[in-house]
Amino acid sequence: MTVKDEVLKTLKNNRSRHISGEEISEKIGVSRAAVWKAVKALREEGYNIEAVTNKGYAMAESGQLVSEELLCRALGPKLKRNGVFCYDSTDSTNLQAKRLMLEGEIRHGSVVFANRQTAGRGRLGRSFNSPEQGIYVSIVVKPDFDMSKSVLVTVAAAVAVADAIEAVCGQDAGIKWVNDIYIGDLKVCGILTEAETDFETGIIDSLIIGIGVNTSTAGFPAELKKIAGCVNAEDARTKADLTARITENTLANVAEISEGGQPGFMARYRSKSILIGREIMVYKGIYREDPTSELGGIPARVEGIDDEGGLMVAYEDGKRETLTSGEVSIRL
Ligand code: BTN
Repeated sequence: MTVKDEVLKTLKNNRSRHISGEEISEKIGVSRAAVWKAVKALREEGYNIEAVTNKGYAMAESGQLVSEELLCRALGPKLKRNGVFCYDSTDSTNLQAKRLMLEGEIRHGSVVFANRQTAGRGRLGRSFNSPEQGIYVSIVVKPDFDMSKSVLVTVAAAVAVADAIEAVCGQDAGIKWVNDIYIGDLKVCGILTEAETDFETGIIDSLIIGIGVNTSTAGFPAELKKIAGCVNAEDARTKADLTARITENTLANVAEISEGGQPGFMARYRSKSILIGREIMVYKGIYREDPTSELGGIPARVEGIDDEGGLMVAYEDGKRETLTSGEVSIRL
C-alpha cells in the first residue's frame, strides 16, 4: 500500500474524529511531511479533507457528495464524451434520463447520476429508498441487437455491478436472479431496466439501466435494515470510482452482446448466482409488499440458468420450468 492509500485508510477508519498528522505518521510509520504530502495529493484527487489547527485532519461530511467534476474525472475522457449529468438531488435518474432523451441530450453510454432521489423507482411498481448515502445512476444503451436479447442486458448489468463492487470495494458480491446484488444475506443493489420505444416505428430505441447501490444503511427504517446491506464506498471519491467502474463494465458487457455468440459474462453470472442449487419460492404475477413473506409462492429448487438468462427450476411435483420473468425468494 502506498503512503497515500495508508493515509486514506486511516482517515476513513477515524471518520468520527479529527486525527493529528503526528498520530497518522506514527500509525503508518512515515514522517509528518509524508503525511502532509499524501493529504495534499488526496485533496487534489477530490477528497474533501478538513484540517483544523491543534486537532488535525478529518474526512469532511460533504466529502460524501459526488460532484460532476469528480465523476467526470473517475469516468475518464472516453466515457465522459458520451455525456455525464450529475445532480445533488433528482426525483429518479431513470425519469431524468427520459427527460434528457426528449431534449436530445442522450447518447449510447450517457450517464445520469444523483446523490439522492426523491421518488426512486424500484421493480414491480415499488419505490426505491434513496437517501443521500447511496449511488443512483442510470446508464443509457442504444442496442444494435435484436430486442429478444434485452433480458441479457439486465444480466450484463448485474455482472457489471458485482464485478465493480469486488474491484473497487473489495467485497464478494452475489447475484440473485435476475439482477439484485447481495453481500452475504443482504441486498446492496437493485437494478431497474426500462425501455424507451420509438413512437412511430414501435422499435426499442434505448434501454435505461437504473442502478441503485446502498453505501450506508444508517438512515434506513428498521424493517429495511433486516434485508438491506451496503458496500464499502462512503466517501465521494470511492462512490465516483464505483460508478465509473459500473459504467465501464456495463458498456463492455453490452458490447459483448452486440458481438453475437455466447457472451463471456454469462459464466460469471452463473458463478456469482446465489440461487443455483437453492430451495426457493416462485411468485408469478403476484405483487409482494413484503419481500420476506412467502405467502402465495410456489416451492421449487433452482437447477441452473440458461444461456438467455432464464432461471431453470424444478417444482416439488417434478415439473420443470424456465422462468423469464417474475420474482423469487430464497426459502429459509
Ligand atoms: C429494485 O430493486 O426494485 C430496483 C431498484 C432500482 C433503483 C435505481 S436507482 C437509479 C434508478 N432510478 C430509479 O428511480 N430507479 C433506479
